[in-house]
Amino acid sequence: MQPPWTPDTWKSKVDAQAIAYDDPAALEGACARLRALPPLVTSWEIEKLKRQLAEAQRGERFLVQGGDCAETLADCTSPVIANKLKILLQMSLVMIHEGKRPVVRVGRFAGQYAKPRSKPVESREGVVRPSYFGDMINRADFTDSGRRPDPENMIVAYSYAAMTLNFIRSLSAGGFADVHHPEYWELAFFRRANVPDSLRHEYERTTGQLGEALRFMEALHERSVEELTRVDFYTSHEGLNLHYESGQTRRVPRKEGWYDLTTHFPWIGERTRALDGAHIEFFRGIENPVGVKVGPSATAEQVLGLIDALNPRNEPGKLALVTRMGAGKVSGALPGLVEAVKRSGRLVLWVCDPMHGNTQVAPSGFKTRDFDDILREVELTFDVHEACGTNLGGVHFEMTGEDVSECIGGAAGITVNDLDRNYSSACDPRLNYRQALEMGFRMAKRLGSHARSSSR
Ligand code: PEP
Ligand code: CO
Repeated sequence: MQPPWTPDTWKSKVDAQAIAYDDPAALEGACARLRALPPLVTSWEIEKLKRQLAEAQRGERFLVQGGDCAETLADCTSPVIANKLKILLQMSLVMIHEGKRPVVRVGRFAGQYAKPRSKPVESREGVVRPSYFGDMINRADFTDSGRRPDPENMIVAYSYAAMTLNFIRSLSAGGFADVHHPEYWELAFFRRANVPDSLRHEYERTTGQLGEALRFMEALHERSVEELTRVDFYTSHEGLNLHYESGQTRRVPRKEGWYDLTTHFPWIGERTRALDGAHIEFFRGIENPVGVKVGPSATAEQVLGLIDALNPRNEPGKLALVTRMGAGKVSGALPGLVEAVKRSGRLVLWVCDPMHGNTQVAPSGFKTRDFDDILREVELTFDVHEACGTNLGGVHFEMTGEDVSECIGGAAGITVNDLDRNYSSACDPRLNYRQALEMGFRMAKRLGSHARSSSR
């Protein structure tokens, strides 16, 4: 028997990333407003996503999840949002085409404003102030007022999430016609880039075939062009700030249970997944599908404990284990966990986050990640699941539709010397547009060969 749960029971547990709000009345005021404001998403969208995640779990669909490490208020602009959707959509079209299965697209957006930090404080030239925990909590500028956690920022973040979502919903309803013409994709760089001829031909062949397939569908005209160009995007963010999450958690008419209506698919970070901690307590009580990050130090016992706590009814599509081991550790650390979960008969969606185990610091001081390490972790993760007879159901990336220089490698040819050209991440380094698209092609190939071998 589980102890009773309410949206507030987490407050009696230890929060490993507790936010030091200094004005309880202001905090309660902001939470009261969050409780009164309309939800950002609906329970029926959440249930639809859960069904699609259950399909991904069974290998009938593939999850492509991605977006900024830290979304910022300043990036709530038309081109930045449109480019984020565009790259997610392009990646997913390539994967549908090669992998021969539908994709579910989930953005790290419309709420990815709260960041866990390894150190609660930052010191510069002898001055110590709270670390920057994301725009929902405080500001990046290193001043007393900037770094002070202000509950009002939750209301601002809610409003920006609503504006972002409003634009996403409008674009999704038919604003992507040009994405259906891969000849307009910005692929010219592959021609100039330092890519082996065989790969370049393959990218060109895939894009050509994809264009043909989409034109064929349009020519059939069995469905309206509007319907063909409509695409679903779901939202996700790390549910770090439990004041924010619980403020929008409610019951809905004619359904059992509680829904966190800030997002469709929240996840619990590597730093807040302690079994007796506040985050597991909060997320065990909601109906949304939930992700948990699982790093190389996780034991099989911990992972089984997380499954018991977060999905006691063994509901399909309910729980995603997002493994983020690092390319060097995945082959050693992942098989034991996968085998233990398989033996237990518990249903989980296995997702690979190949970003967070592969961060390094360049000599210039910039945090970066190497395209080859990222790709290697994805491929090794596919290998582990193949060897265990389980299914890798999705991938989780930090990426952007902009031409940033944060990760090195790939056909874009970014080296450690280029990092200062356009490094704009508010937190971890993201794949840029070209690197993300190339990653899509490379993963699609792997998904495609798997689809072919399992249909033989
Ligand atoms: C993240 O996804 O940005 C993150 C902090 O990941 P993790 O919890 O896996 O370190
Ligand atoms: Co990150």
